[in-house]
Amino acid sequence: MINLSRYVQCHPNLRSMRHRHKKTVAVVFFIFLVVFFALEQRKDNEGDAERGAKAHFHYNDDSIIALKSQVGYLKRLLAKAKKSHEGKVSLMDDPSLPTIFAITPTYARPVQKAELTRLCHTFLLVPNFHWIIVEDAKAKTKLVTNFLRNCGVSHTHLNAHTPTDWKLKADDPSWRKPRGVLQRNEGLSWIRENIKRGTDGVLYFADDDNAYSLELFEEMRTTRKVSVWAVGLVGGLMVERPKLSDEGRVAGWKVMWAPQRPFAVDMAGFAVNLDLFLSKPKAKFAYLVKRGYQESEFLGHLVSLDELEVKGDLGTKVMIWHTRSEKVKLDMEKKLFDRRSEPSDYHIEV
Ligand code: UGA
Ligand code: MN
Repeated sequence: MINLSRYVQCHPNLRSMRHRHKKTVAVVFFIFLVVFFALEQRKDNEGDAERGAKAHFHYNDDSIIALKSQVGYLKRLLAKAKKSHEGKVSLMDDPSLPTIFAITPTYARPVQKAELTRLCHTFLLVPNFHWIIVEDAKAKTKLVTNFLRNCGVSHTHLNAHTPTDWKLKADDPSWRKPRGVLQRNEGLSWIRENIKRGTDGVLYFADDDNAYSLELFEEMRTTRKVSVWAVGLVGGLMVERPKLSDEGRVAGWKVMWAPQRPFAVDMAGFAVNLDLFLSKPKAKFAYLVKRGYQESEFLGHLVSLDELEVKGDLGTKVMIWHTRSEKVKLDMEKKLFDRRSEPSDYHIEV
């Protein structure tokens, strides 16, 4: 019998064929490995990109909201810790982000602390945010001072008193006199004196009675000159917003009240690049301005209509609401007073 295995092992042609075959298998296997790992790597990258995109676009995601609330919680904790060391709330800014400087005029009234508390709790969740709060008062009050000390938002506390001639009387309709004029100017002067030219930042006027969504601040943060957006519940409408040309530039305003105003936008409907503001020393507010023209007066110093940047889904997304508190009825306090009883808030800050 022929020993086949010996024959196979010993025949020189067959041996070299087998050797070549082995080499081919090794090469094919090696190519397979390279292709396999390259494909796996691509899958991983695509997965990362998809997860990154999700994290970016779905920032209403529960986990991100939870993280943001941790940030607010930590800022408050730090405010308390610093207070016990007689220090100030430190800046915890991310140097890669522009800082938002928001000016809020505020005045003493029954709802003041409630309004400021709502604002504080929103602003705690906004990174790189400096709150300039200006009291309409002859001197800073204890209520606002203590409030700010506990709030945890980085802030500057100022005051400027509205002269009696310019103050609304109890029965005046709210539109009779402009409000917040001196207070906003006080905030603007503070910025001019304390912030260097070239600082990467944004200026915003945040009245104390509005409701703000967090998205608004992320939209305005990239303002290069002046940005505008929709404002909810204002001017007798559900929403006022910019009117756009076919090229997406602002060509007018979708408003019912005084649409002829050059900038027919509420104070809460625009933000200004900080350096642009600092480069225009005349930009400020004035009492002797036609009713409803405060915004136009201020913005007229800074931009032309076609330079405006439109934010929030081409000016269709409502991220701020011009809510106004109902005037509180305190007739029962009067009854207590008439009975010579102590007021309900005796020794209690409301
Ligand atoms: C509208 C606009 O949204 C305001 O930005 C604008 O200043 C105002 O009209 C106006 O015509 O002057 P409205 O809700 O009617 O707003 O005004 P308020 O919210 O009553 O006042 C605007 C800001 O000024 C508030 O932050 C408020 O706290 C403050 N303010 C009001 C004072 O500092 N002192 C006052 O006597 C009254
Ligand atoms: Mn208001």
